[in-house]
Amino acid sequence: MAKNKDSILYVFTVAFSVCLVCAVAVASAAVGLRSLQERNKELDLKSNILAAAGLLQEGVSVEEAFSQIETRLVNIDTGKFSDEFDVDTFDPVAAVRDPAITTALSKEEDIAAIKRRENYTEVYLVLNSEGGIETLILPIRGYGLWSTLWGFIALESDLNTVAGLGFYSHTETPGLGGEVDNPAWKAQWPGKEILNESGELAIEVTKGGNADPNSSYQVDGLSGATLTTKGVNNLVRFWLGEDGFQPFINNLKAGGA
Ligand SMILES: Cc1cc2nc3c(=O)[nH]c(=O)nc-3n(C[C@H](O)[C@H](O)[C@H](O)COP(=O)(O)O)c2cc1C
Repeated sequence: MAKNKDSILYVFTVAFSVCLVCAVAVASAAVGLRSLQERNKELDLKSNILAAAGLLQEGVSVEEAFSQIETRLVNIDTGKFSDEFDVDTFDPVAAVRDPAITTALSKEEDIAAIKRRENYTEVYLVLNSEGGIETLILPIRGYGLWSTLWGFIALESDLNTVAGLGFYSHTETPGLGGEVDNPAWKAQWPGKEILNESGELAIEVTKGGNADPNSSYQVDGLSGATLTTKGVNNLVRFWLGEDGFQPFINNLKAGGA
């Protein structure tokens, strides 16, 4: 019997079949590509860790460059290395959102506007042939103008001189706060020092145009992006301060981490 192509049932059957085929295709692509997406995410994170430390080299794959890096778990409260979780399966981004392993920050403590600070995180080390630290790479994050900036800061072997800084995720406005990604702005960081001679936290990001070019501690902020600049200053000072990695850095310096 010939089909009545004008019937409502026929139209619905065709529409449903098309939807079904498309849904299956999209779902299959999403599931099939998930592992590739995860892998690309991991590679992207690794390349950002390397970039912050200035260890990305042309002609060297990210995996190869990352093989010189040792990933360790740190208890931020005690400032010591920890083996409470398996570092191979630990997800530091998920740990930020887990109430069981984060601590609420008071208003005074929360200068980076992150509300809660994770108790455990991953840090990344480049070791020299004697097993000493050549570069230490620490995760940092905090609120800018629009949302949280996520990045890394790398320290040289003295654990006081900045080797580099970079953000891998933020939604600041391109051309304004987004200039945190500008290589010329990032080039100011290497060589800056965290603590002054009295051991006080001295590193700071000033309002754009206000940094003393001879200062070992000041980084010039972004012109026309004062709010992002303040956010970066606050987050850097939070993570390098007492509620962040300062206890860990002090323990490392004393050989007690
Ligand atoms: C559409 C739009 C996007 C903006 N994006 C940013 C931004 O990403 N970061 C920032 O600090 N200020 C941003 N601003 C500017 C702030 O509103 C504010 O004017 C600025 O931070 C003041 O900085 P100044 O004192 O250096 O001029 C933006 C403004 C507009 C209108």
